[in-house]
Amino acid sequence: MRALQPVYGTTIDTGSELRAEEANDLGGTKMRVTKRFAVAACVAATFLWALPAGAVDWNAVQGRDITLFYPGQASWEWVLTPTDHSGAALFKEGKNCNECHDVDGKSEAPMMGDKIVTGKKLEPSPIAGKPGSIVANVKMTHDADSFYARFEFQNPPTVGEQMAPDEVKVTMMLSDGKVEEAKRAGCWAACHDDLATMPSAPEGRAITKYLMRSRVKMTRQGGPDVKPADDLKAMRGDGQVLEYWQAALNDGKPAKASEGYVLGSREFKRSKVVTAESQFENGKWVVVLSRKLVAGAPYTDLVAGHSYMVGFAIHGGYAARRYHWVSFEKTMMLDNGESNFVAK
Ligand code: HEC
Repeated sequence: MRALQPVYGTTIDTGSELRAEEANDLGGTKMRVTKRFAVAACVAATFLWALPAGAVDWNAVQGRDITLFYPGQASWEWVLTPTDHSGAALFKEGKNCNECHDVDGKSEAPMMGDKIVTGKKLEPSPIAGKPGSIVANVKMTHDADSFYARFEFQNPPTVGEQMAPDEVKVTMMLSDGKVEEAKRAGCWAACHDDLATMPSAPEGRAITKYLMRSRVKMTRQGGPDVKPADDLKAMRGDGQVLEYWQAALNDGKPAKASEGYVLGSREFKRSKVVTAESQFENGKWVVVLSRKLVAGAPYTDLVAGHSYMVGFAIHGGYAARRYHWVSFEKTMMLDNGESNFVAK
């Protein structure tokens, strides 16, 4: 067992119990071959493009095409191991993922996704017909009160087994920079080698996303021992979490919103603060996630003059877990500034 070089120091502490969540995500799989486009389109046509996002004039907001690619089993530990990933050394020296892989105008994401989804690398159980990448047009804006992120993308095909009850899930991760590795590596900060369906997943226990600061020590196989609850509580109080917003979409029915954060595990609840709206037309989803700019602790305050990391994931075709498409890390600022998204 190779020990990981500590990239950002982790301190030693005693362990506590992991909370295994959604352990049944992969239970009860069945083949699904029917295409639901026709039904979904009819249902969707009857929707109203309801408030509050209806108030936003999306035509006036500039969008950006983001390629989300299939990551297979490329965990945080994999990307940091030089014998696995030749970008590891330079990443540790300070070069971020997107600086090598997702430079504006020449993203390698489509090529990477094709390589992985077909099983040439990092995917021991490839799913025939699954696209290596998908493109979502993403727009962000805000008004006096709330922040809105809009995603427009072709409904991904349903191939392979049904793994999840929801047809599509759209997730946005958000960090204000307190979690340094999330700023530099986006979603990879939360994706570890011992998560469910990953190479070092323990038998009979489904571990969900976590941040390495929640662990006593990190190894090439992830961090088995969780720090005491009091430590996690203090970190959470200090905002050292990855916040996420999610919309679950089914058959053109209204989106279900949920929200949560990642620290010791992926904490998840039906939404109180985040709202989700969706529209399905001509095989395309349009999804708007929003919440108040300042929603009170533990939610990250969204204020002008500060740069935020945003990362996106889309699960499609009833996929669960790692069988999704993800983006590299992006930056977002309110009103103005140097960033991938400027939400005006
Ligand atoms: C210094 C440039 C560099 C940085 C920074 C870098 N990579 Fe890479 N990455 C590479 C190179 C070169 C390859 C192809 C050969 C290999 O796998 O070593 C690669 C391969 C990959 C692959 C496998 C797909 C493929 O095309 O082979 C994934 C997934 C990946 N990188 C993810 C990441 C993530 C996530 C980060 C940030 C945590 C990152 N990389 C940072 C250079 C980099």
